[in-house]
Amino acid sequence: MKQQPIGVFDSGYGGLTVLKEITARLPQYDYIYLGDNARSPYGTRSFETVYEYSLECVKWLFEQGCSLVVLACNTASAKALRTIQQNDLPKMDAGKRVLGVIRPTTEIIGQFSKTGNVGILATNGTVISNSYPIEIEKFYPQVKVYQQACPMWVPLVENDEYHSPGADYFIKKNINELLDQSVQIDTILLACTHYPLLIDKIRENTPAHVTILSQGEIVATSLQDYLARHPEIETKCSKNSEISFHTTDSTEDFDNHAAIFYGKPVKSTHLSL
Ligand code: DGL
Repeated sequence: MKQQPIGVFDSGYGGLTVLKEITARLPQYDYIYLGDNARSPYGTRSFETVYEYSLECVKWLFEQGCSLVVLACNTASAKALRTIQQNDLPKMDAGKRVLGVIRPTTEIIGQFSKTGNVGILATNGTVISNSYPIEIEKFYPQVKVYQQACPMWVPLVENDEYHSPGADYFIKKNINELLDQSVQIDTILLACTHYPLLIDKIRENTPAHVTILSQGEIVATSLQDYLARHPEIETKCSKNSEISFHTTDSTEDFDNHAAIFYGKPVKSTHLSL
């Protein structure tokens, strides 16, 4: 029988922060990671472009045998997931599934805020899509959501500049812009899978009483729950604890950077889409 790894996709390295938590929680499955580094960042691109790129990546992961693909990218989850789920999946293979990272987060975010005021730090694309305010409203209508786009943060991470004084400048600037929207904000969500790499600098610039949430563990817990509720998908997922990494850009660059995100050495293979 053909191996069916769980596909994990991001525009670049960010999804590795999610894969790291998923594999820690669910080590028995096989995984295939795809980073579209050659076309990253997605956060500044149009809906059409993010959709087109994400669909191409999902199709490739399906071709590798995946029955389940996780878009470990907020921008793709915000701009492409719904269309892929509703329009493309039924035509491609109704037995396959694509999940995102926004729903698992918005389902539980209200539990963390005492004041009911939540801040979202994300890419331009995610902010403009309004996905977080719309989804949070469904689960926690009383919660007020404030958003701040951080257009420089992904480039800082992807270009290895996240320890630089430039990173300090932009992190401080965007956090202040978010917190200036309301003194009541007591919970901040890092709604981009790249941002956990900036966590130390984010903490330094955020008042101690504010809770900062990353998505990795949240998404991993939600995936575990999903697999428990969907045996028709779970039984298809192969279980040899094997992981392969693929990038649309240089494998050397990918391997050098990826270990920081994933926490372990990574050896990738190149693919052209
Ligand atoms: N890591 C992705 C996210 O979570 C996007 C980064 C990008 O702009 O490509 O939104």
